[in-house]
Amino acid sequence: MKVTIFGTGYVGLVTGTCLAEMGNHVVCVDVDVDKVARLERGEIPIYEPGLEPMIRHNHVSGRLVFTTNAALAIAHGEAVFIAVGTPPDEDGSADLRYVLAVARTIGEHIRSYTVVVNKSTVPVGTADRVCETVAATLSARGAAIDFDVVSNPEFLKEGDAVNDCMRPDRIVLGASSDRAVEVLRKLYAPFNRNHERLVVMDERSAELTKYAANAMLATKISFMNELANIAERVGADIELVRHGIGTDPRIGHHFIYPGAGYGGSCFPKDVQALERIACTHGYRARLLEAVKAVNVAQKSKLFELLSRHFTGQLSGRTIALWGLAFKPNTDDMREAPSRRLMETLWSAGAQVRAFDPEARKETRRIYGERTDLMICDDAYAALEGADVLVVITEWKAFRSPDFARIRATLRTPALFDGRNLYDPLVVEEAGIDYYGIGRGRSLHETQSSSAGVRYPAASE
Ligand SMILES: NC(=O)c1ccc[n+]([C@@H]2O[C@H](COP(=O)([O-])OP(=O)(O)OC[C@H]3O[C@@H](n4cnc5c(N)ncnc54)[C@H](O)[C@@H]3O)[C@@H](O)[C@H]2O)c1
Repeated sequence: MKVTIFGTGYVGLVTGTCLAEMGNHVVCVDVDVDKVARLERGEIPIYEPGLEPMIRHNHVSGRLVFTTNAALAIAHGEAVFIAVGTPPDEDGSADLRYVLAVARTIGEHIRSYTVVVNKSTVPVGTADRVCETVAATLSARGAAIDFDVVSNPEFLKEGDAVNDCMRPDRIVLGASSDRAVEVLRKLYAPFNRNHERLVVMDERSAELTKYAANAMLATKISFMNELANIAERVGADIELVRHGIGTDPRIGHHFIYPGAGYGGSCFPKDVQALERIACTHGYRARLLEAVKAVNVAQKSKLFELLSRHFTGQLSGRTIALWGLAFKPNTDDMREAPSRRLMETLWSAGAQVRAFDPEARKETRRIYGERTDLMICDDAYAALEGADVLVVITEWKAFRSPDFARIRATLRTPALFDGRNLYDPLVVEEAGIDYYGIGRGRSLHETQSSSAGVRYPAASE
């Protein structure tokens, strides 16, 4: 089939590439001239495992084309996907300006029946707004051309996006037109061979399904972080509690890891946007407010532990940081907990020596050259001249480190384990002080060694 995708970000680029991989002819269009030029030269703007070779061979075979020419792109596609950003507006609601700009462009250029497929995460009712926008633009042209709008939210995870796209758990279609559903049923047939994955519903339910999925996942994380904060205070180990509850099949082991708070381009903005959607419809979403508040507090957790360790004297200290990306297998730094930590450390007068397997370039792009940030090309080089080590992203390469080398390199060996990757006893036996998230034992030791430091409540 002939497909057009607006937006060559994490969603558009992965979706377009996977559709081309199945034999479709895909034109990806973006307003970012530089990005399109790089893609045309074979440079991949994001790190996503497995994506680069797939883009290369589909591009070489001519099934995957990148352009800034919206008119040509729209003339090509039987289905035109909208996969542009929906960043938070000032009040936290999703900013629809890019989605509606694409809708106008579609209205300006379609020549025959087109299925407009919205993949961006958008407030409930956006399919109607896209439909009105396309219709108004067509009418201004004096053109009478059939089109349908389908809501097709995307559930891929950064870091495993190609796999998610090639083997989706479900394909949600929100549509009121059988004709449009049939076009997409045909397009998605290669992804749907093993068993039926298509879940067809109305547009509003599809739009809400996306927010519901992300809000549920964010809730699980904040719930575990809240429990971790309780565990710490009562002298329990949240890791034992996690195993204890995960064995219940109604709870399960997935997504119940305590840590340094959730980040990324989706959970923070989607929880906030859903809260706004509820609010504008006269409902106060108290649970979502709490999920957000717990997360905001959790992102300060490592700084608080560091501050307590150094009895508030962070000025002149050097902190080694392992991990910068908001999660492993991506270079995405949007809302990454590492950013809050670095920024608070800098405000307190500390220096940072950081290593990340993939996000070094992105970190440099965001922060530029600065004297209090040294981005290192090797994990152990980041320890040189550092007082202590903080691990904030759970990259596989950090899971079995050389503790003897860490101890020998750090000035005052202490490890702040923002993802509970390590056994505290193993770390301590290696002669390194250990601090984890929600591991009561470490807190009790800390309290006795830093009397007088008030431990902030999670809601603060
Ligand atoms: N990143 C994820 O993991 C993920 C997962 C599921 C859903 N989503 C949702 O998908 C949407 C896209 O997210 P993303 O992370 O891919 O965004 P992104 O910021 O990585 O990419 C968006 C792209 O759209 C382009 N763009 C903006 N206006 C355009 C226009 N008028 N015409 C053509 N291109 C245009 C931008 O230049 C950019 O390249 C968002 O709504 C997001 O919430 C993201």
